[in-house]
Amino acid sequence: MPDSPAIELIRLTKCFDSVTACDCINLDVRRGEILALLGENGSGKTTLTNMLSGIYQPDSGQILLDGRAVSIRSPRDAIRLGIGMIHQHFKLVEVMSARENILLGQAGRAAISPEEAIRRFGIQVDLDKKIYDMSVSEKQAVEILKVLCRGADKLILDEPTAVLTPQEIQALFDTLRQMRGEGKAIIIITHKLEEVMEVSDRVSVLRKGVNVGTVDTASTNRFSLTELMVGKQIDLDVKRETLPPGQTLLKVQNLSAVDEGGRALIEDISFELKGGEILGVAGVAGSGQKALCETIMGLMKPSQGKVYMQGRQISGLSPREIIRAGVSMAFIPEDRLGMGLVGGMDIPDNLLLKTYRDQKGFFLSRRQARAEAVDMVRRLRIVTPGIHAKIRKLSGGNVQKVLLGREINLNPKVLITAYPVRGLDIGASMTIYDMLNEQKRNGVGILFVGEDLDVLLGLCDRILVLCAGRVSAIVESQFATKALLGMKMTGLVTDKEDDYA
Ligand SMILES: Nc1ncnc2c1ncn2[C@@H]1O[C@H](COP(=O)(O)OP(=O)(O)OP(=O)(O)O)[C@@H](O)[C@H]1O
Ligand SMILES: [Mg+2]
Repeated sequence: MPDSPAIELIRLTKCFDSVTACDCINLDVRRGEILALLGENGSGKTTLTNMLSGIYQPDSGQILLDGRAVSIRSPRDAIRLGIGMIHQHFKLVEVMSARENILLGQAGRAAISPEEAIRRFGIQVDLDKKIYDMSVSEKQAVEILKVLCRGADKLILDEPTAVLTPQEIQALFDTLRQMRGEGKAIIIITHKLEEVMEVSDRVSVLRKGVNVGTVDTASTNRFSLTELMVGKQIDLDVKRETLPPGQTLLKVQNLSAVDEGGRALIEDISFELKGGEILGVAGVAGSGQKALCETIMGLMKPSQGKVYMQGRQISGLSPREIIRAGVSMAFIPEDRLGMGLVGGMDIPDNLLLKTYRDQKGFFLSRRQARAEAVDMVRRLRIVTPGIHAKIRKLSGGNVQKVLLGREINLNPKVLITAYPVRGLDIGASMTIYDMLNEQKRNGVGILFVGEDLDVLLGLCDRILVLCAGRVSAIVESQFATKALLGMKMTGLVTDKEDDYA
């Protein structure tokens, strides 16, 4: 049936125990269309797409592909039916090259060759490079090539931009537009409204498992989408409050660190962080952000330089002693796994885990932990059937809220937070910024490693710009612009930091 949509879902429903993750969802995607799927954390986006990729079976409802009712019993079925799923966690064999991964299991039946896919869709990949040598964006490109070579004409991407730099996002969008031009049907999940506006043709919004509306992108805007998503208007401005400067808490002096091969990760970094201040760290991915955080936290040894906390040298101490000195860190890694939570345990037990290990002579009782968990679920609007649900069963964004809430519960004097809103929905991101501002008002010094320049400029008092492991500038946010930060990040200007400090 040439006029029928490529994908049509009719009253699709999926429950997990007491949770209705997808509730009678009707949705369609046409050929040559990019449909954005938008919704708060836990609204059912991943569950919905997992039914298309054969990971979950619907409890009821129907899936039609090109007008034909199908049942997708396994990921293999999905591939056979032309569905290509790009998951948040890549499933590549690390020791193999890109080409080997792409051809794996296709036994010469590839619909098109990797070379042809690269040419047709403008994808940048070195086919002979091993996966373990690749950046996150390169791995993602390999996953995309893999499904294209298998002949997928229906592509689903679950938060593909969450871990990409602005330049990489543009390259991905160019590829998606090429695919659209060839008549493919594409579903993209993203929390970033600017991206929805930029790349999609239509948007479907899920709220608590229900499709609350599908609109043409051209006839909507960020504010109406937010309202559709959360059911009310929310202020999308990130607020900065200027407080009188407190005393210096953290002092980093000429800090350098090298990797196992002796290559410099960070070089000669110096700055001070005061109480009641948010100091942003900007930089393109891989400019030394991770090494800087880990060196301060004692997870990496500095090759040179020192770190002081309230005048006392903490470089050389163990991570545990550094936490005791009042420094705490919530680092959300690119793959969002290994965030230091135990999936098989519930929220109170995960809270206990950290306090028990890290706090001096302070033991949370189980009752206290339960109370804190209830409070955290309420304040951060964590979507969960209850505090005793296992972490593993929460949606990605909700897991992250638990991680951050736990660090803040430790009452640190200095809070290091890296990419805290990765994968979080708009409302949750604003909640995190509010939480950080509240910590700032309480006199906490915050080091905020971020990617979104608008957020860095809006939230932080000062911004330290990293370029290739060095400080290329420290600027006052109120006098800085995105263009200036962009230039400093790429090393195009090399003024001394004094010009901006
Ligand atoms: N395997 C599972 N077992 C139990 N509950 C689950 C399971 N998978 C998902 N859920 C629940 O279903 C609901 C929808 O989760 P889903 O992962 O689809 O949300 P999402 O919209 O993708 O959220 P996010 O933006 O955070 O990724 C959530 O309440 C989640 O806790
Ligand atoms: Mg999800």
